[in-house]
Amino acid sequence: MMKDDEMINRGPVNISTKKEASALLANSSDTVFTQTNQFSSHCLIPTIDNYKQLYQASVDTPDQFWDEQAKKHLDWFTPFTQVSTGNFIQGDIGWFLNGKLNVSYNCVDRHLKENKDKIAIIYEGDKPSQIEKITYYELYLQVCRLANLLLSLGIKKGDTVAIYLPNTPVAIYSMLACARIGAIHSVIFAGFGFESIISRVKDANCRLIITADEGVRGGKTIPLKKKIDEVVCHCKTVEHVLVFKNTGGHVDFNPQKDIWAEEAMLEQRPYCPPEHLDSEDPLFILYTSGSTGQPKGLVHTQAGYLLYAAMTHKYVFDYQNDDIYACVADVGWITGHSYIVYGPLANGATTFIFEGTPTYPTPSRYWEMIERHKITQFYTAPTAIRSLMKFPTSFVEKSNLDTLRVLGSVGEPINPEAWRWYNKFVGRERCSIVDTYWQTESGGHLITPLPGAIPTKPGSATLPFFGIIPKILDPQTGQVLDNADTTEGVLAISRPWPGIARTVYKSHSRYLLTYMKPYPGYYFTGDGVKRDKDGYYWIEGRVDDVINVAGHRLGTAELESALVGSYCCAEAAVVGYPHDVKGQGILAFCILKEGYEDDENTVSILRNEVRNTVGPFASPDVIVITPSLPKTRSGKIMRRILRKIACHESSPEQLGDISTLAEPEVVPLLITKVLKYI
Ligand code: WTA
Repeated sequence: MMKDDEMINRGPVNISTKKEASALLANSSDTVFTQTNQFSSHCLIPTIDNYKQLYQASVDTPDQFWDEQAKKHLDWFTPFTQVSTGNFIQGDIGWFLNGKLNVSYNCVDRHLKENKDKIAIIYEGDKPSQIEKITYYELYLQVCRLANLLLSLGIKKGDTVAIYLPNTPVAIYSMLACARIGAIHSVIFAGFGFESIISRVKDANCRLIITADEGVRGGKTIPLKKKIDEVVCHCKTVEHVLVFKNTGGHVDFNPQKDIWAEEAMLEQRPYCPPEHLDSEDPLFILYTSGSTGQPKGLVHTQAGYLLYAAMTHKYVFDYQNDDIYACVADVGWITGHSYIVYGPLANGATTFIFEGTPTYPTPSRYWEMIERHKITQFYTAPTAIRSLMKFPTSFVEKSNLDTLRVLGSVGEPINPEAWRWYNKFVGRERCSIVDTYWQTESGGHLITPLPGAIPTKPGSATLPFFGIIPKILDPQTGQVLDNADTTEGVLAISRPWPGIARTVYKSHSRYLLTYMKPYPGYYFTGDGVKRDKDGYYWIEGRVDDVINVAGHRLGTAELESALVGSYCCAEAAVVGYPHDVKGQGILAFCILKEGYEDDENTVSILRNEVRNTVGPFASPDVIVITPSLPKTRSGKIMRRILRKIACHESSPEQLGDISTLAEPEVVPLLITKVLKYI
């Protein structure tokens, strides 16, 4: 059911967010970095003309283009009979209709014939000495055993399984085991707290949870099973909990529900026939934050998603046969789904999975991993780059990074300074930098350079991937803006692509309302954008109440609801502000309940409430206690004003007319308070 407070997300461009992004881009020049590196001529798409030709074909004759690609990149049990259907008005999108395939077969079995002994997964744990290499054949055996175990527990096609695991190979086995039998997985990032897990498990009616005893990051142990024990008490649908041993740490074991995964897998036959699934059967649910209400469970389906993940992985990273490809994201986010698991494995690649953090045990960790494993493509987020830029360059200079060819960035706009550092110190000015713009909803990259083919400009995601038709719309009127020179507005896409999420789990109306209704006929991304005279896209950040904090996407509404869940908070308003390392920081304004004081203790109660309910990564950077908030006379919080205060855009001209507020005197008070912290 749609919530009352859910509004069509078609407001004016959020000027503060735009300014933040513009400030980041301020020192960007229009310098074009042509891809004159030594690898260009060997790239899969070696020239801009090759790109243009393929792109044109993908938009002029889309069905023909995708028909060929689907046959080339995927193995089918039954061929599809129609390439595409549906549009953004009805939201009835479908691809490769009536085709039957299996995603785990495409990611594992089909590589066995020629590459049985090829390394499929390289894993590094938190400690650099914890290295594991898993061949395609070993992966196959594990996936089959786990799939059979799921079947033996009564899990069948269409059932939902929650995965709450550290970033280790078992997370990959679990996803593929679900895919093998047609169960729908819902991976919940292992940094999420209690309330966030419960709401996700309940929303999807999960019958089973796969977890581990503990995770380890940056030398710290994270209890996972303990959290799931609490979750299970509140979620009646959960019949079993499969527990993997990661650290061997103590866990409470409930013999009625809990099962030691490794032991039980050994009893299972290592052959499990892959279910023949329809192209449009759901593959997974992944929750993501929006401007209002609960996170949305976006549903991705089998064939279109897999094809799009595989193709973008191949062309954007210029993936070639003997490459060692590394994405250091977490499988709990879409980047991990598409670019640690599904894209690379569909392409038969060696994929890397890392459980630790960029600075543990030293800030050379990433660079040492690249040298150790001879990594050829490396994919991370601007926040990690910015945090590593702060250390002396000797940390990166001492590693041999000669094997690298492509460096990727994802999750937020990359400021040109970080882009240049990445290019100079990591890429040694001979690699291609791919600043990939996309979303949980898009399944794979939307706007991105292609190594060898698309010259780059620091800070720009450059040009659309095959089949993507971006449009810049006037945020108010929805008119398409198309100036020859610079065009600025909100970013929409005018035609469905295979990787787009098909619905919000159990709430198609919410899907339509969020993405299709704001600008009829278009998919609305929620981002502001600028296009320059060369047709290059510069993403300016969210125009709604979503913030990107250290590459994590958060809805301010979720954080506010966590804060008011604390016994001392009466009302809360959360906004983002520009942050040197994290891109955006979290600023929370809170009104206390009677009897509570504005002191350190109260602030730490509030902060802990967010840490426990949403997760430590969502902990507010700054909490400002205030007697009131700027509201309209009808009682609506004026977030626009709070955002401006957070960005220090608080001169009378910048704030505009505040006389219509119920209590205008709170504005100067908040300006003074915020100045103390930011
Ligand atoms: C932002 C992450 C600028 C954007 C894959 C988008 C970016 C949101 C970029 C999606 C980029 C992602 N440049 N902004 N290269 N990549 N974003 O769903 O605001 O976690 O809407 O998916 O991240 O975040 P999500």
